[in-house]
Amino acid sequence: MANDEYLEFLIEKSDSPATVTDRQAALENPGFGSLFTDHMAMIRYTEGRGWHDARIQKRETIAMDPASSVLHYAQEIFEGMKAYRLADGATALFRPDENARRFQASARRMAMPELPESLFLESVEKLVDIDRDWFPPVEGGSLYLRPFMFASEVFLGVRPAKEYLYLAIASPAGAYFKSGASAVTIWVSSDYSRAAQGGTGAAKCGGNYAASLVAQAEAIERNCDQVVFLDAAEHRWVEELGGMNVFFVMEDGRLITPPLGGTILPGITRESIMTLAREEGLTVEEKPYAIDQWEADAKSGKLLETFACGTAAVVTSIGTVRSENGDFTIGSGGPGQLTEKLRMRLVDIQRGQAEDTHGWVKRLF
Ligand code: PLP
Ligand code: COI
Repeated sequence: MANDEYLEFLIEKSDSPATVTDRQAALENPGFGSLFTDHMAMIRYTEGRGWHDARIQKRETIAMDPASSVLHYAQEIFEGMKAYRLADGATALFRPDENARRFQASARRMAMPELPESLFLESVEKLVDIDRDWFPPVEGGSLYLRPFMFASEVFLGVRPAKEYLYLAIASPAGAYFKSGASAVTIWVSSDYSRAAQGGTGAAKCGGNYAASLVAQAEAIERNCDQVVFLDAAEHRWVEELGGMNVFFVMEDGRLITPPLGGTILPGITRESIMTLAREEGLTVEEKPYAIDQWEADAKSGKLLETFACGTAAVVTSIGTVRSENGDFTIGSGGPGQLTEKLRMRLVDIQRGQAEDTHGWVKRLF
């Protein structure tokens, strides 16, 4: 196969970028996921030829043949990461190599070709560079990056495709939760599972999210912000939220989070929080935690706080847990003290306001 790790990117600036006035107005209130920048990155893959045709170009619609295999068998993966404006005005990514590696792991699980780490990194860095005027000037604002890849081969046979398209788009982002709440309410799904042993739970593939939507819709119907899934086998062990990992803060100084084991996404925020928590002197335990234990510990006071974490959500306290059996409240129902401390430690590193002792921050320009 061709040596496709060192492709030259063709850079074509958009000839119809948003006007400065329109852009500034949109950036005042970016929300999450509905505002997009002027450009996108694109790389093609063909079996036998490897990765080719790397480019940064204007963001535009992509024509697809109705028989493109992703439309039928859902061979699709994605990543979620953020570019930040640092305190000194520079721009940076947070642990982007971890996203590149997880993208490769997701590709392996979905029988897709692995994009070399160097190409993944270059695509997002070049995209941030060309769209550098799109950072929202709001508190907590960032440029959310969405690299993704899908099977573009025009073929209806059921086998791994021979052609793929990799793209990366950028979306100026503010807070993920619309309510802007300091603590969110979550719905325990009793009917649906997100992932089972041997399934695709540890991969970041679109199908996992499609499978979660009916449960997320139930959550919204019940005035909850997110759904939390239990394990598929026993419906007992807390796994993760639709788009975030979960942590439990115990009164005896332990921080518990469900173990990876193939059914939950290995979150980069999760891993970073475990490291920071250990530095704070907490004992971090990756171990199964049961839904009935969660309720009992919340009621007895053994559990002080619970929080969700992920790139989009950052670190957010869970104040109320709602299920078919009723509600229970965690702590005061508001933001937890330790949760806030860990959130600030993480955000300060991401924003260049605290020393980056782990080499997590990759400065761009
Ligand atoms: N779990 C799921 C299902 C997710 O979609 C995400 C978000 O990407 C996470 C966990 C958190 O992962 P990360 O911290 O890498 O964003
Ligand atoms: C992310 O945090 O990047 C995700 O992909 C999860 C989703 C809630 C947007």
